[in-house]
Amino acid sequence: MITPKLFTPLTIRGTTTRNRVVISPMCQYSANKGRATNWHLVHLGRYALGGAGIVFVEATAVEARGRISHLDLGLYEETHVESLMPVAHFLKENGAVPAIQLSHAGRKASGHAAWQGAGPLSAEDQSFSQAPWQAVAPSAVAAEGWPPPVALSIQDISELIDSWRSAALRARAAGFDIIEIHGGHGYLIHEFLSPVSNFRKDRYGGSMQNRMRFALEIVEAVRSVWPDDKPLFFRVSALDGSGGGWTLDDTVTLSRLLHQSGVDLIDCSSGGMTGPTPTMAIPREYGFQVPFSETVRREVGILTCAVGLIIEPNLAESIVKEGKADLVAIGREALNDPNWALHARNKLQAGEFGDWPLPFRGWLERRAATIELLERGLSENK
Ligand SMILES: Cc1cc2nc3c(=O)[nH]c(=O)nc-3n(C[C@H](O)[C@H](O)[C@H](O)COP(=O)(O)O)c2cc1C
Repeated sequence: MITPKLFTPLTIRGTTTRNRVVISPMCQYSANKGRATNWHLVHLGRYALGGAGIVFVEATAVEARGRISHLDLGLYEETHVESLMPVAHFLKENGAVPAIQLSHAGRKASGHAAWQGAGPLSAEDQSFSQAPWQAVAPSAVAAEGWPPPVALSIQDISELIDSWRSAALRARAAGFDIIEIHGGHGYLIHEFLSPVSNFRKDRYGGSMQNRMRFALEIVEAVRSVWPDDKPLFFRVSALDGSGGGWTLDDTVTLSRLLHQSGVDLIDCSSGGMTGPTPTMAIPREYGFQVPFSETVRREVGILTCAVGLIIEPNLAESIVKEGKADLVAIGREALNDPNWALHARNKLQAGEFGDWPLPFRGWLERRAATIELLERGLSENK
């Protein structure tokens, strides 16, 4: 039987993923002072047991100011490394490539957890040990509904780039094989890229070349300490929205430069930029961001990952088979079904259990045989 393209391996530098299914980074707001907890081990471990090729640890802050909330993961202290080691180890031991997204929330830092409304912390939160802190950004211009950030000085920027380098070293020490730099969703790197949020007059603002400088310097710093045989991904918001700002053409230009700087794959998301110039959100439909991945892949000749409302295995298979992306990332559907990859293979390849974890495999094969008999109106006892 022909293996579906979704379940063929892919080698990037020295790392091979067993299939094309990625679990997208998803903040859990479950860290303890930046450290991973048992929640992360079990939540992420389920996807390795569930057959995914690459499992991403959520947006992990490169410095304390860059956390979205008090409950974010960090990689800015040595104790953070130890807490993530069991996660990376478990993922690898169970066949998935351990991957981590490094991030800085910029002007959208100092917020509540998603289930508390995800808005900014205020002085009242202080009494619940949730003191707000001063957020930073390229310019002192607030995102809609957020307090004004402080603009970073040139000196701050250079120190921040060092934080990315140190976080990459810690990711390496923790045992990860892929780093993704979070360059989208209206967070710090995206805030530098987009003319909607970057009003600087120095070499980090103004022309597009200047707005891309921060992203490219981070890539250079990370790549300088990230081993040559390990892949580096970059997540973009391929465009701000339909009202202007950062565009898909800009993403193509940036992706070419990222590729030359040692980025191996562009993970194509969109949106997240809120104010001061309004942009219209992209209409949601199944696979609505796939055209961004397809364009970047075709125009730049770089590997891409498609993400966003990819639920049906047949859609995922067609995306990779038709060359619209090299990898497919599953987010919320993985929360719904941590065994998504295994179920997808069963669906695309008619009920094979060969990929299921050994302690489950024989039981499920036997049960499938019983179900088949029952459906034919027979029983094992007859
Ligand atoms: C609970 C949750 C947390 C998320 N956290 C992150 C994150 O840490 N980094 C990121 O780049 N995207 C994050 N996202 C976006 C997802 O990675 C993904 O791009 C998005 O959910 C669309 O894919 P889906 O339709 O398969 O869920 C998050 C999404 C959810 C639902």
